[in-house]
Amino acid sequence: MTKEIETFKENQTITEGILFSKNLIKGDIDRSIIVYLEGDLGAGKTTFTKGIMQGLGYQGLVKSPTYNLVEIHETEMLKVFHFDLYRINDAQELEEIGIQEYVNEKGSLCVFEWPENAESILPKPDFTVEIEHINSLQMDLRKLTIKSA
Ligand SMILES: Nc1ncnc2c1ncn2[C@@H]1O[C@H](COP(=O)(O)OP(=O)(O)OP(=O)(O)O)[C@@H](O)[C@H]1O
Ligand SMILES: [Mg+2]
Repeated sequence: MTKEIETFKENQTITEGILFSKNLIKGDIDRSIIVYLEGDLGAGKTTFTKGIMQGLGYQGLVKSPTYNLVEIHETEMLKVFHFDLYRINDAQELEEIGIQEYVNEKGSLCVFEWPENAESILPKPDFTVEIEHINSLQMDLRKLTIKSA
């Protein structure tokens, strides 16, 4: 399944994240649900994640995990591991923080910003969301392409 949407405001990208979160049900799989968020700096990956978290009923602050590498949020539905791999240079660094344990945790969701920096060791995604910042006079325009495996 592929879905393409354009958003014209930050809030619309959050709304799309909320809608997307309805696909993420703690189910039969005995590992984490894997979501890749792809797109340039400032495209809207963290913004989309805010929507996912709202959709899962999380009320707390969702900030970019740029410095911590991973932010962990507990929701009633899923435990969420939100990664930002922008600063990861090689897969070894991720092995060291125990990536395999995160991605193998049943009843969890792993959201990866910048997955391309560690694709060799990450599991294949269940969903990929590409966010394109369309350069036009309309600076707030984003094109979202959501694909499920
Ligand atoms: N349609 C839109 N959708 C999402 N964000 C938008 C939109 N229009 C403007 N913005 C702005 O673009 C910025 C997106 O920032 P965000 O942190 O979500 O990007 P990011 O992809 O996570 O970047 P990084 O790679 O640095 O982590 C925010 O400042 C947001 O307000
Ligand atoms: Mg971000």
